[in-house]
Amino acid sequence: MKRDQDVAASFKKNQKLDAGQIERGLGTARVGRCVLCFDEVDSTNDVAWDSARQDNADGLVILAESQRMGRGRLGRKWLSRPGENLLFSVLLLEGDAPISQEAITIAAGLSVAEGVEDATSLRAELKWPNDVQIGGAKLAGVLVERRTVESGSATVIGVGLNVATAPPVEAVDNPATCLTAHLEATPDRVEVVRAVLRRLDEWLTRVAGGQLAELHDAWVARCGMLHQRVRVLSGGQNYEGSIIDVDPLAGLVLIDDYGVRVHLPAAETTILPRK
Ligand code: BTN
Repeated sequence: MKRDQDVAASFKKNQKLDAGQIERGLGTARVGRCVLCFDEVDSTNDVAWDSARQDNADGLVILAESQRMGRGRLGRKWLSRPGENLLFSVLLLEGDAPISQEAITIAAGLSVAEGVEDATSLRAELKWPNDVQIGGAKLAGVLVERRTVESGSATVIGVGLNVATAPPVEAVDNPATCLTAHLEATPDRVEVVRAVLRRLDEWLTRVAGGQLAELHDAWVARCGMLHQRVRVLSGGQNYEGSIIDVDPLAGLVLIDDYGVRVHLPAAETTILPRK
């Protein structure tokens, strides 16, 4: 792990994101068929939603150098300094046969962790439902939103990935990190996002083909929290207990202090910091 001054010294401002560079030779079937890059937007998720009424927008990827109102899970804000990190959203138009939102949620986090490893060789781990961590500090967050649009069910997967800088300690509840802090130099954002999009494309195909057991196994292999005692907030209620499994359809599986097995859905569940 590098010291702050080393990080500052090795930081070289990344070049602006270029849609053509991201699209060219990507080799995906669905994700990234069309890529758009913006300087500044309110939220890349909103731009993706604005495109959802177009029939051919399935797999569209929206990136921005900065967001005025980046949002996180459970009503939180997502902060990122302009031009330094990755802020992107993927639109999936699913018609009348949507993939389960639980499965998309865990497939998205897993794809970010695997893509980061492909591009940088850094081992990234998962914290329920889809925080991506290095050494216990948050590297990336994923916000999955589902709505009904004209063509049926649609999902937007929004990803915030700290490449060159992490938000200041006073702005976050849990420790945060960035890729540069663990590498000799700042990695190329284009290479990182392409690796994540490829993994996401692959997992969406596999999940649509029924490979939920493979998704489960790959997710669990990257989860450092299994069998740990945790405090969890879900649907406005607090739980304490041990994580015994992660189910791609039912969510987090916990044994609470009364020995009761509870299934907590990803969309409304978050693991609370240790006391
Ligand atoms: C979380 O950990 O709470 C999820 C954070 C998701 C942030 C990303 S940044 C790109 C996309 N646009 C948004 O407004 N949010 C997501």
